[in-house]
Amino acid sequence: MCDIRGQYLSLKAEMDAAILRVLESGQVILGPEVSAFEAEYAEFCQADHAIGCADGTTALLLALQALDIGPGDEVIVPPFTFFATVGSVIRCGATPVFADIDPLTFNLDPQAVAAVISPRTRAIIPVHLFGQCAEMTALRALADHHKLYIIEDAAQSFGAEYDGQRCGTLGEVACFSFYPSKNVGTLGDAGMVTTNNANLAQKLVALRNHGSEVKYFHKYVGWNARIDAIHAAMLRVKLPHVTSWLQSRREAASRYDWLLEEAGLTGFVHRPIAMPNRRHTYNQYVIRVAALHRDALVQHLRSSGIGCDIYYPLALHQQECLQPLGYAAGDFPASEDAARTVLALPIFPEITEEQQHRVVAALSTYARQQIRLAG
Ligand SMILES: Cc1ncc(COP(=O)(O)O)c(C=O)c1O
Repeated sequence: MCDIRGQYLSLKAEMDAAILRVLESGQVILGPEVSAFEAEYAEFCQADHAIGCADGTTALLLALQALDIGPGDEVIVPPFTFFATVGSVIRCGATPVFADIDPLTFNLDPQAVAAVISPRTRAIIPVHLFGQCAEMTALRALADHHKLYIIEDAAQSFGAEYDGQRCGTLGEVACFSFYPSKNVGTLGDAGMVTTNNANLAQKLVALRNHGSEVKYFHKYVGWNARIDAIHAAMLRVKLPHVTSWLQSRREAASRYDWLLEEAGLTGFVHRPIAMPNRRHTYNQYVIRVAALHRDALVQHLRSSGIGCDIYYPLALHQQECLQPLGYAAGDFPASEDAARTVLALPIFPEITEEQQHRVVAALSTYARQQIRLAG
């Protein structure tokens, strides 16, 4: 689904030099590599501040804590996202409230959000799922009207744009992940929080370092949530390549669109939809297949040596550990339907035309078998 080793090898000399630079400097906790990476990242996102941290989950937790969100507060989240979006809300002591997704984009449906806003709501977390920004105009209007914070979960969408603006400053604060499969991934775990709010940035810097602004004096009860200097150094090597990598992802997505059409498969699968005012980054190329076929197709692709995955097979309100929230099957039909029908095909900047042809050929073989069986 991604080529971690291939990407490393394509940058090997620079990556090795970056790692050695940290080792030889002896400065492995925070320090100049982290500060430089934060400055370069902020510039890319056109944000005033970027604060590196341990991973994307911790980025969400820090953002919530920096906004003083905790017990008694409600935070609106989609039920169709990676678990960390909701896990971080629960970890900070607040109550997640689910609002269903728009089935076209997989992102929060603003009307569903409006329906669950209560006097206890403090924030909305739009997840820019699979590489495309959520419907920010309507969400921002709701947030402004009800005086709510917007915390972008941009873990999957580094570089994505909404109305020409990069994610990272579309709300009060934004959270990113550098998990290896993300648009910019490190060789391990790391994350980032961006904001244009100077006070919030100052608090985030303290919170990620045990709540301390001056060593051994603790203003807040924070965490050990720092980004490692070695990850910052590796990510600094990757950052200048991101624009061309995102372009390669878009080209690969267009190629899939075209190959699926050429193979006559657009009745059998639905291709991802890129909204006109957004710049999709295709962190994932997610097709939809009738629930009847989805799991068998996954087996077929895997047995043909094709990587594929299901993000996500069970909506969050149906997860075992979230049953105490009191939701039931049927509460979020669009999310539940997505969980039954999505299928992510391999997409990464280094994917070749030949590899994409093989993926589509394997899909065609399965579709033809089904047509023959049905006939
Ligand atoms: C939507 C979303 N939110 C949050 C996270 C958490 O990021 P991390 O794995 O770096 O903790 C991820 C990562 O997989 C994600 O996809």
